[in-house]
Amino acid sequence: MGDDELRLRPVGGDDLAVIERLTGDPEATGEHGWLGWFEQWRFRRRWEENGLIEDERGVLMVVRGDERLGFVSWRRQSTSLRSYCWNIGVAMRPEVRGLGYGTEAQRLLAGYLFAHTQVNRVEAITEVTNTAEQWALQKAGFTREGVLRGYGFRDGAWRDVMIYSVLRQEFEA
Ligand SMILES: CC(C)(COP(=O)(O)OP(=O)(O)OC[C@H]1O[C@@H](n2cnc3c(N)ncnc32)[C@H](O)[C@@H]1OP(=O)(O)O)[C@@H](O)C(=O)NCCC(=O)NCCS
Repeated sequence: MGDDELRLRPVGGDDLAVIERLTGDPEATGEHGWLGWFEQWRFRRRWEENGLIEDERGVLMVVRGDERLGFVSWRRQSTSLRSYCWNIGVAMRPEVRGLGYGTEAQRLLAGYLFAHTQVNRVEAITEVTNTAEQWALQKAGFTREGVLRGYGFRDGAWRDVMIYSVLRQEFEA
């Protein structure tokens, strides 16, 4: 694997500051990622317990060579009594946005989850005004399914979101 190639890898102790910046610094989260300040050490505490990889959720760093570009995450979403899918998230460092990395990172994460778990569906939700993420998901092979109204509360208002998904068969094709 070349040093230029984007890859995902488990989070190391030195990476935590990047994750904390991308979730806790309003200058870095971007408008859509700013959810207010919350329990400051939650990633650090979870990392000490399990390296941020659990049965029901996880976080991986997005890197190119030694450069940390951002992180991806997933969490289990029930779809019936006997099935579930993964709901994924992503945040790239502001300095490297708009260069195609967010697209590739989400494609890699979907591939990883289909390869290592038996789910049939990977989904993602993003606010209707987050055009960068909508582009990125579409380019990564996700299909727009529709709008969920008044779905998430952020920064003083209930926000409409778009829901996207990719199914195993589509991804493998
Ligand atoms: C959303 C995000 C992950 C996309 O990753 P990225 O590396 O910037 O995206 P890409 O370069 O792969 O693709 C983005 C596409 O949207 C376009 N775009 C439109 N507005 C943009 C903006 N404000 N910033 C970046 N790209 C934008 C780009 O031009 C690109 O399209 P193109 O390849 O046709 O030129 C990244 O911008 C980010 O981390 N944003 C803050 C956190 C966030 O919003 N996460 C998602 C929460 S649901």
